[in-house]
Amino acid sequence: MHRTAETDVSSEEHNESIGRLDPLRLDDDVRSLPTMNEAGDVSALARVLRGALPSEESVAAFTVPECLAAMRDLGMYLGSLKRHGVSAFDVIPEATRSFELLGMRTRMIPRDTVYHYTCWNPVGARERLYSGHPMERHLIDAVRRCVPDLARAVETGRVLRAEEPGSAVYADAMASLAGHITAADRAMGRVNADVTPEFFALVLRPYFEDVRVAGRRYMGPAAAHVPLFLLDLLLWASDRGSGQYRGFCHEVALQTLPDWQELYADWTTGPSVTSRVVAALDGSTPSSGTGHHLRAGAEGLRQALRSLTSFRGKHLVMARRAYHAEVRLYELGSGGGSVGLLEEILALTRQNGAVVGPAALRTVPRATTPKE
Ligand code: HEM
Repeated sequence: MHRTAETDVSSEEHNESIGRLDPLRLDDDVRSLPTMNEAGDVSALARVLRGALPSEESVAAFTVPECLAAMRDLGMYLGSLKRHGVSAFDVIPEATRSFELLGMRTRMIPRDTVYHYTCWNPVGARERLYSGHPMERHLIDAVRRCVPDLARAVETGRVLRAEEPGSAVYADAMASLAGHITAADRAMGRVNADVTPEFFALVLRPYFEDVRVAGRRYMGPAAAHVPLFLLDLLLWASDRGSGQYRGFCHEVALQTLPDWQELYADWTTGPSVTSRVVAALDGSTPSSGTGHHLRAGAEGLRQALRSLTSFRGKHLVMARRAYHAEVRLYELGSGGGSVGLLEEILALTRQNGAVVGPAALRTVPRATTPKE
């Protein structure tokens, strides 16, 4: 499979190197973005965006990391205008071409994503912010810090797809994935402590609205687009998910990185890790390794699902508050889903964890345990 090093978000150093880039020379302008947003100064926002649009020649001359940084910065103006009810592509028709070219060069959608807003957003004085509020910095930082770990979990997932449950390699990969995936739970703990649901609902959420580019709708930079959907498909959702959740994954896949769009196509079918591990434990498929490794793999899977359940419990608390009828401005999340969908995903994650728990404790078939 073709791998794209430039959009690999697993290395903090690489992400920071993109954060340092300012190909459109917007460092000074972007500092005034929160003030412009506060004032609802649509004409100033449109003026900066229009002046910053790169020509076809400039985009061709940019490196891919420069294209990512350029999209990050243009996206801040796109989202800001949308928050004030204006589609940038209506008021600046020539913007469409620049966004499309940047999308093509990076093999991503023709607008900014959660990766532009978090991983590739510099920290400190140069941080790109809609509101300038410390809570916005906390939210960005929580996501920025957890994405590299989730990307490493996805890489480990490739091993799980290729290996048989019961091998030492499989058990090690499962333990490593379970370790990486805890990052989502930690991030959500931080967000619940540092960001109020009211701030998210009333101040930030309006900047994450979807936009139409050349007639097609693309969602805003929502945290829902971190690769948990891929890890779910791998671990349980490819054959144990619901139609509604799989439809959501399909939408989300488009808003992610080129490698993950390819992986999505691969991981959306076939038996999940849960099904393969449970079948191996039940002895209904021949297992090539020892019972010890099989049980270790099952334990890793149980921990990974427990960690996902814990993330989703904390996340649901936040989502319920932010989308409570008395608080919310929008009925649906910026990723296009509802609180009802989150409840369903949590229930499915729990259910699958409950399948693995007892299965992990069950006696391993004799044929697989002679070396114990
Ligand atoms: C600050 C408050 C947050 C609120 C109010 C919130 C709300 C929501 C809502 C309503 C959804 C439903 C789908 C959609 O986006 O349309 C959703 C999905 C999702 N959000 Fe958040 N979210 C928040 C923060 C986060 C953070 C910090 C992360 C990751 C670290 C995250 C990760 C996800 C994921 C992965 C999904 C897809 C569904 C799932 O995997 O359970 N969210 N969020």
